[in-house]
Amino acid sequence: MAHNIKRIGVLTGGGDAPGLNAVIRAVVKAAHSAGVECVGLEDSFDGLIFPDRSRVLGLKDVTGILRIGGTILGTTNRGNPFVYPIDTVDGPVDYSQRCIDNFWKMGLDALVVIGGDGTLTLAYELFRRGIPMVGVPKTIDNDIAETSMTFGFDTAVDFATGAIDRLHTTAESHHRVMVAEVMGRYAGWIALYAGIGGGADVVLIPEIPFRFENVAERLLERERYGARFSIVVVAEGAHEVTGGLAIVEAGTPDKAERLGGMGEHVSREIERLTGKESRHVVLGHLQRGGAPLAYDRVLATRFGSFAVELLLGGQFGMMTALHSPDIVAVPLETVVGQTRNVPVNGDVVRTARSVGICFGD
Ligand code: F6P
Repeated sequence: MAHNIKRIGVLTGGGDAPGLNAVIRAVVKAAHSAGVECVGLEDSFDGLIFPDRSRVLGLKDVTGILRIGGTILGTTNRGNPFVYPIDTVDGPVDYSQRCIDNFWKMGLDALVVIGGDGTLTLAYELFRRGIPMVGVPKTIDNDIAETSMTFGFDTAVDFATGAIDRLHTTAESHHRVMVAEVMGRYAGWIALYAGIGGGADVVLIPEIPFRFENVAERLLERERYGARFSIVVVAEGAHEVTGGLAIVEAGTPDKAERLGGMGEHVSREIERLTGKESRHVVLGHLQRGGAPLAYDRVLATRFGSFAVELLLGGQFGMMTALHSPDIVAVPLETVVGQTRNVPVNGDVVRTARSVGICFGD
């Protein structure tokens, strides 16, 4: 059934991921084909809080952006409209009603919100308060519920795998243990996939708490059979059975906590327990940068195009999702507040174990 959608807004929120521009392009093109005008909102919900931070996106604006990383709209993970961080004596302010009022004042009929769990949770709240919207899941972490893949993940894994390949040659030359810390927040998808793809010896993920004795034993065992180097991949959210997370900066009401440092800690402990020389490297934001790989471009384009289809069909409050091989719509209420973790007894972990990867458990 056709709904009266004539003008839609599109925004990108949270950390960037390769493929955001591909979604924006698909949304603009699909909307244009349906005679719908598209308005780009800058820096997540800022474009609704401050309407001058928005612009109409025509075909010309999205020409050539398919292959470009980042987002032409800008993004932030500090723009929660419910606790907006501005300097007032009373602290952050609640701009949610202002977003809703501006949405209608700007003549918008619906929104496409491209984001991770944080941004989609905010969007869902606005939906519950009457804003017609559809969500598109984004994150390199691949941890969004109800979709078997998010765009950006494949590109991040490819980068991490390439880095591990490079670490192999230097590790082997120096008979060292090389430790690579990868992103992923509280999920171990990037570490697990890059670990398998790069042929790591040890992979430490949040879902499987580890013991240093087990890690050291695995590395010494390799030494005994003549492999004098090893590769260890550490998810930033990995932790010991008895230990906590490595946190760089505590979270605040408007900002998630920042993880980091576990790679260095693991490297130091490996040296202490094995007597082997070890070095660590943090792949960090390099995993989020650069051009999206073809897989992510295609997935992002399918999500963007389907999001417009859902809006035109009046299917609001939904999120586009991959239920391989199909793109489907899932209710946002089943997604928000959830994290899709690596199943510890799933086939990917079992595969890793079968090729000798140690999880330190
Ligand atoms: O969620 C994506 C992600 O890159 C995580 O893997 C990482 O923990 C976090 O964002 C880093 O956030 P920031 O860009 O604020 O440092």
